[in-house]
Amino acid sequence: MRQKIVELLDGVIDVLNASDISEFIEIPQKKELGDYAFPCFRLAKELHKAPQIIASDIAASITRPFFLDKIEVQGAYVNFFTNKSVYARTVISNSVEESYGSSDIGKGKVICIDYSSPNVAKNFHVGHLRTTVIGNSLYKIYSKLGYKVERINHLGDWGTQFGKLIVAYKNWGSEEAVREKGIEELMRLYVLFHDEADKNPELQDEARSWFHKMETGDVEALKIWKWFFDISLDEFKRTYKLMGVEFDHYTGESFYRDKTQSVVEELTEKGLLSDSEGAKIVDLSEYDMAPCLILKNDGSSIYATRDIAAVEYRKKTYNFEKCLYVTGQEQKLHFAQVFKVMELLGNDWAKDSLIHIPYGLVSLAGEKLSTRGGNVIYAEDILNEAISKIKEIIEEKNPELSDEEKQNAARIVGVGAVIFNDLYNQRIKDVSFKWDKVLNFDGETGPYVQYTYCRCASILRNASYDENLQIDCSQILDEPAITLLKEINRFPQVVKDAAEKYEPSVVARFSMDVAQSFSRFYNADKVLVDDEQLRNARLKLVSM
Ligand code: ARG
Repeated sequence: MRQKIVELLDGVIDVLNASDISEFIEIPQKKELGDYAFPCFRLAKELHKAPQIIASDIAASITRPFFLDKIEVQGAYVNFFTNKSVYARTVISNSVEESYGSSDIGKGKVICIDYSSPNVAKNFHVGHLRTTVIGNSLYKIYSKLGYKVERINHLGDWGTQFGKLIVAYKNWGSEEAVREKGIEELMRLYVLFHDEADKNPELQDEARSWFHKMETGDVEALKIWKWFFDISLDEFKRTYKLMGVEFDHYTGESFYRDKTQSVVEELTEKGLLSDSEGAKIVDLSEYDMAPCLILKNDGSSIYATRDIAAVEYRKKTYNFEKCLYVTGQEQKLHFAQVFKVMELLGNDWAKDSLIHIPYGLVSLAGEKLSTRGGNVIYAEDILNEAISKIKEIIEEKNPELSDEEKQNAARIVGVGAVIFNDLYNQRIKDVSFKWDKVLNFDGETGPYVQYTYCRCASILRNASYDENLQIDCSQILDEPAITLLKEINRFPQVVKDAAEKYEPSVVARFSMDVAQSFSRFYNADKVLVDDEQLRNARLKLVSM
């Protein structure tokens, strides 16, 4: 419909092309204003006429086609009222396609998404849960638009902290404890290192020398590091499995350890590197930014150095159109620095292609969450707790199910609830985590959307719905049904908007809007009526 209206307008407006027209078209909030509206404000300057006059001129020059009931001018708007029956037929035939919402705007283009990226030997916390959820959602959104997405896990698996960990392990650790307790024990050792180093500063030198050994390929150092790495990755993968998340590349910071030297050389060659108290930096004061540290005074590379190497590697390997970084807001400066350095190195594409996607904090204020060591919260524990809370409800409501069925349903609902809670608000907003809210079946939650889906499935099952049945679209012209169609009809645009704004909440909100419109439709219109024509038409709506 939108496309048809664009074509109509394109035929009578010379000063805009079809894609501008499409962008200008609005969907009015009030139904008195029609189904689509074209605002003429922006044409005024070009045409030297008042927008109201332009709107009248446009309306007058269009011959009303069969799919429109009327075309009206209201103020500076041309409003289009679609024929409900044609509208219903169009929306239904589009939306039943497998490819509904897809597009080929991304065809032949690559987007890298750097997300999740937890730190080896540290817990996968709620912040990592958010980047994982948001990144995975962006992956789905961009894939839907035809992009090839490279899902990259930039694990924090390199840096001086591993020197400290090796020292702590050698002094106070044991193989059995690490084997048995994994990350929890590694975190204990890390904390212990800092306590001990306060008393005995020489430990810091030892740690530095172990990291130096790692950087220079020492077999023993690398063996211990790799062991910690494997243990951590196994734990992370447990969490990913629960969430149904996968990556194309586990190329963490260590992957770039032999690629930082050339970064330093390139920066030196281009005269960008300067000395600062023995360290090497790129001065960014001209851009109102703190300097970007490249080498510490002991000559070791840092987080930023490896990120610069990573951009170069990814550009060379994937030739991305965009590379997105999903992390907390606190890394804003870090990415601004890295992106600026890339630009200064002469990469003109860096400005528009490298994009930091920050998100707000998760606050657990007041919630009691199970913790393992100390007060540390693991994402895995939150997910498992959600599952077990849902399982209790299922035990009570559906005792007839087998244990496997209960467990499976509990996982889908529990994990879905946590994921939806992370996606529902604009990503930049802080999220508060409250069990009551997250798991509520009636609120604006994942379980509610899932519940709506299940209700539809059960209606179709009970009615032995046959999807090949031809339906008469003039049967579904009443307000709740048309409103539901209107919601469903937004989907292709919703996917595009979400991609453009890097904002999964647009899709989450949409799914809630559809669920709520469905509920209104279902309460107003009985589906299983005797009239066969009407029943089939309404069942079709349910099936969408
Ligand atoms: N490991 C980092 C953290 O946990 C996130 C890494 C983000 N990606 C990147 N390329 N720097 O905060």
